[in-house]
Amino acid sequence: MVDQQLARSFEGIGAEYDRYRPGFPVAAAEAIVPDRVGAVLDLGAGTGKFTVLLGPRADRVTAVEPSTAMLDVLRAKLPSVEAHLAAAEQIPLADDTMDAVTVAQAFHWFDRDAACAEIRRVLVPGGTLGLLWNHSDASCSWDRECHRVAHPAVSLERDGTTASAADELPGFAFEGRTEVSWSEHITRQDYIRRWLTVSSFLAADEQTRAGMVAQLNSILDADPATADRSTFILPIVTEIYVYRSV
Ligand SMILES: C[S@@+](CC[C@H](N)C(=O)[O-])C[C@H]1O[C@@H](n2cnc3c(N)ncnc32)[C@H](O)[C@@H]1O
Repeated sequence: MVDQQLARSFEGIGAEYDRYRPGFPVAAAEAIVPDRVGAVLDLGAGTGKFTVLLGPRADRVTAVEPSTAMLDVLRAKLPSVEAHLAAAEQIPLADDTMDAVTVAQAFHWFDRDAACAEIRRVLVPGGTLGLLWNHSDASCSWDRECHRVAHPAVSLERDGTTASAADELPGFAFEGRTEVSWSEHITRQDYIRRWLTVSSFLAADEQTRAGMVAQLNSILDADPATADRSTFILPIVTEIYVYRSV
């Protein structure tokens, strides 16, 4: 069941999300759309952090996103993308028009069955659905501990995000799962600011949020990989699930 308060937490941010959240590796887009296609839809596109990788892979890229703040950033950054303010459960596109639909870091916010029915409707028969998420790397203990501050109740091995990518989605055949490991250099300040764009931080009241930030700082102060450093190497794993509409 989707927590609607958390799902709506992105309504108010755009620029900070775009500045501080990680992007995605090109290999993730390649895994979903290996050969150039006519039309691709990025659903729950946010500020376009994954959408930008679709440009070289399709003649026409469309983005659908329900937050105005997010979509404003996407429109400014990617003027050639056809952008619609809408949700996954009611996609404002005609039947059988998309060769592929991608959903980056967002499928867990959707009403799964309603969204699957809509995605299947807009896809051509046999079209591709690709779901992907960036995750912490199991080898990075300090990042894992920081994840627990944001999501204390979830297992990092199978958290609430990828749990929504069931092998069986209504109307789709599962084709496979891939992982891409990569890393980025990030300053301590930007790492903390990144957490401030995560739903549980956005939805918390000011006092709770300050307490969560204090916990992040004590984790970073205690770990030898991050203590007394202003820049870290952050390993990230991008998990990709590919389906075919049937
Ligand atoms: C974590 S952000 C991911 C944004 C972007 N895909 C990225 O990877 O940077 C989750 C996005 O899902 C959107 N979202 C939430 N509920 C949605 C729904 N029912 N339909 C479509 N998008 C939704 C939010 O507005 C937000 O932009």
